[in-house]
Formats: sequence, C-alpha cells, structure tokens
Amino acid sequence: MSQTSPPKTPIKAPKQDPAEILAQSLLRLPQLVKIHQPNNKIFVENLALFQDTLRSLWSTEGKVDFRLHRSRLYLNKARISFPAALQMTATKLMEFLELRKIFGFSFTPKDDLTNEDIVAFVKTVNASQNQPEPAAFLDEALKDNWAAPIMDDNFKIAYLFTDESSEAPGRPMVWNSTPTSEGERARKNYSRAMAEFSKLNDTITATSGLVNFAKSRRVVQDMAESLFKNENILLSLSTIRDYDDYTCSHCVNVALLSMCLGRRLGLTKMEVATLGLGGLFHDLGKVDIPIELIRKPGKFTDLEYEEVKKHPLNSVCRILRLNADNAFKSKLLVAPFEHHLNTNLSGYPESSRRVPVSLYGRIVAITDLYDALTSSRSYRPIPISPEKALEIMVSKSGVEIDSLLLKLFINMVGIYPVGTLLLLDSRQVVMVSNTPAAAEAGRPRGYILEKEKDALKKGELVDLAEKDKNGKFIRNILYCFHPTEFGLIPTDILL
Ligand SMILES: [Fe+2]
Ligand SMILES: [Fe+2]
Repeated sequence: MSQTSPPKTPIKAPKQDPAEILAQSLLRLPQLVKIHQPNNKIFVENLALFQDTLRSLWSTEGKVDFRLHRSRLYLNKARISFPAALQMTATKLMEFLELRKIFGFSFTPKDDLTNEDIVAFVKTVNASQNQPEPAAFLDEALKDNWAAPIMDDNFKIAYLFTDESSEAPGRPMVWNSTPTSEGERARKNYSRAMAEFSKLNDTITATSGLVNFAKSRRVVQDMAESLFKNENILLSLSTIRDYDDYTCSHCVNVALLSMCLGRRLGLTKMEVATLGLGGLFHDLGKVDIPIELIRKPGKFTDLEYEEVKKHPLNSVCRILRLNADNAFKSKLLVAPFEHHLNTNLSGYPESSRRVPVSLYGRIVAITDLYDALTSSRSYRPIPISPEKALEIMVSKSGVEIDSLLLKLFINMVGIYPVGTLLLLDSRQVVMVSNTPAAAEAGRPRGYILEKEKDALKKGELVDLAEKDKNGKFIRNILYCFHPTEFGLIPTDILL
C-alpha cells in the first residue's frame, strides 16, 4: 500500500467545516466592516479565518464557487449540510444573495491575497445594497476580480447517466429540471412548513410563555388542501428530506406521511389537518432534552433512556402552552402523547391504562418509525432502505404496530417510494411515479428520464412488472438512489 506524504507547504486548515466558515464570513464580514476599523481584533481574526479557509480550499479544489441553487447552498458541486445550529445562517445568507439578485460568489485562487483585498470586496458587496440594479453593479465592480458574483443559475450538480462500459453505475448526473407550477407550489409549502416549524421550535426553546403557532397551522391546512388535490405531491415531497436538519425534516415528514395515510383512511380535510399538526408536534418535547443526548451516536445508558422517554409527555406540556383554544389543543396532543406506545400497550409513557391506543396515535407511531428508520442519524449515517425498513416494521406487526394500518401504509409508500430513482439493467434511469399493489411492490411504475439539452424531463411511463412473451421481466432494477443525493427534486419531474 502506498503511503501518502504530507503536503510540502502545509496550509493551516481551520477545524470547522470550510463551507460553514465561508457562509458565516459572507454574512459577518459585511457587518464587521461597517462597525470596526481594519485593525480591530475581532475583525482581523475574522478576516484571517476567511483567508485561511479560502487558501485551504484553493489548495485542494482550485477555484471555489459558493452557490445558491433552488434554495440550497453548494460549495463547488457539493451541497452544504448545515447543522441545526447554523440553519439560520443558511437562511439569512440565501436572503442576502436573493436580495442582491445573484447566485453566489466565485473565488479564483490569488497567491498574494491580502486583508485589504478582502475588505475591498466586502465594501463593494455592501455598496451594492443601495444600487437600483445590485447584480449588475457587482458584476461591473468586481469584473476580473479574484472574488466575483455568480450571475446565472446554470448549475449542473452530478452525473446520473453512466458510461455503459463501466461495471459500477458511477455517480449520477442530474441536469436542471424545470419545475411545474403545481410542483413548485407544493415545494414552497414544504419549505414553509420547515421554516415555520423550525422558527416555532426556536421560540419554544427560548420562551416559556404562550407561543403563537397560527402560521404552522396555516401551512398544514394548505398541505391538507393540496393533498386532497393530488396525493403524489405530498408523497414525493416526503422524499426530499434535508439530511442535515434531522429533527425538523423528520417532523415535517411525519406530518406529511400521517396526512397521506389519514386521507387513505377516509378522514375529512379538517381531521387530516389536525392529524398533520399532531405529526408535526409529536417530538416537540425533545427541546427539553439536552441536545447532546438527542445527538448521541452510541446507545443510551439506562439513565439516559429514562430521560429520552420523557419526550412524549414533554410534547403534551408544550402543546398545552401553545396559543390556541383548549378544545383544539386537546385533539392535537393525542398523537404526540401516544406515538411511542405500542398496540399491546407496551412502550412509553408507561402506565396502567387499558384503553387502546387511538387511531391518530397508531398512525403517527407508524410514520414516525418509518421516517426514523429511513433517514440518516448521528449513529447511523447511511439510512436503511425503505425495503428493509418495511421488513423491520412487518416483524413488529400485530404486536407493536397496528397490522391493518401497516398494510395500508406499505401500499401507500411502496418499497420504492414515489420519487425514488432506479437504475435499470437497460441502463435507463426511472423515477418511481406510482406504488403498485403489494404483490408487485418490488416492481413499481415510473417515468424513464430523458435528457433534453441541459434539462431532464419525464419520458415514457414504464411498468417494471411487465414481462416478455417468455414470461421474463423486461426490465430489472440494478440500483436505487435517493433523488436528493443528486439535487433532483421529484415534484419537478413528476407533476
Ligand atoms: Fe418520538
Ligand atoms: Fe419522532
């Protein structure tokens, strides 16, 4: 095995993630330059951190593009995963770029980069704020500069169509896809739900008084509205999880999946919305548990597990403190209270109750477990496939999980959920559009993705259960990918 020798001129690489430092610097430096002299200690430290980070990136990656694309931030081709604590920074930075009508900044390697260069760049960025055409101003002022604005959203993320000679599928390539207005609206709703819920979570953590949740309520009602128009929209949205913000996307996904299951059970729009809010708030009580415990990679000790087991009751207390009428709150708190109770009444919170778990509680128990299994967690960076997750759940059916609801749920999500990308033995790439009946669960229907110039669009609808005249399946699945791995948004293609 060859040994790698250390680089000759080591560059001081900052400990924090470079993408996070760039994001923080791009927000912080324009503020610092307004209030401090260039020799101010804090300002100098921040300039040094920014400069070290850029130099370190230049040495490994060459040019550095910090880019906003479809409400996500990217460092070169890699999507930036912001930890929960930096979600606000990410949101503010996106607003900062949107306000200036640019798509990011491109930093070209410059050997003799000085603090003065950075200060000049930051001042130009600040000056753009008062311009009628900020993007044009920046483009002109930073022409041929080491730091320049990115003016177009012509961004290709990764490779999906692979060369046929290679054994392995390689990494997928995804082109920009053009969103439909319906899909875009649904995605905006999803982002709104994420934003509202994360804001609500923050307020709840910071205050002990009544918290207004009218906006979360409205978002969930809008989602219920679109669910009754097209179930596929919400189902495919639940696959666009943000891997980096587990708690928030988990709660939004549990809400979405619960609403879809509720709809299939024939609940009314109002009931579906109430169930959705119950799903959204099921883990609200986790804000009372130390974050280190929530994120703990290993197994809990007995004492720690006792602490974690308090969260359903904490959720109830938190819901009671929301600013809404009591009758409504009493409907909301059932699912959060019961979501870790099994159908045989084992689980927690432990009690001597004999009353069966309610319908909402049983629904949220299923969607919660499914989403937790199929998402990446600190102790399990690679998520379990939907197929394996459903297998685990089936093994609990009838004892811990309601068997009838589970059957309905499996019918609903399918082994390959709507939006999943499948690479076939024909080397075609299909996006799952339909979850078939249980008998054919491993062979869904979907659209073949076709390249058209720089975009992807849906081509022919194929049924993977289709056989030739000898009774052999015409197409077989080689690999299954999560669409967001490649920056692809299912609603753009499917709707
Ligand atoms: Fe929970
Ligand atoms: Fe949960």
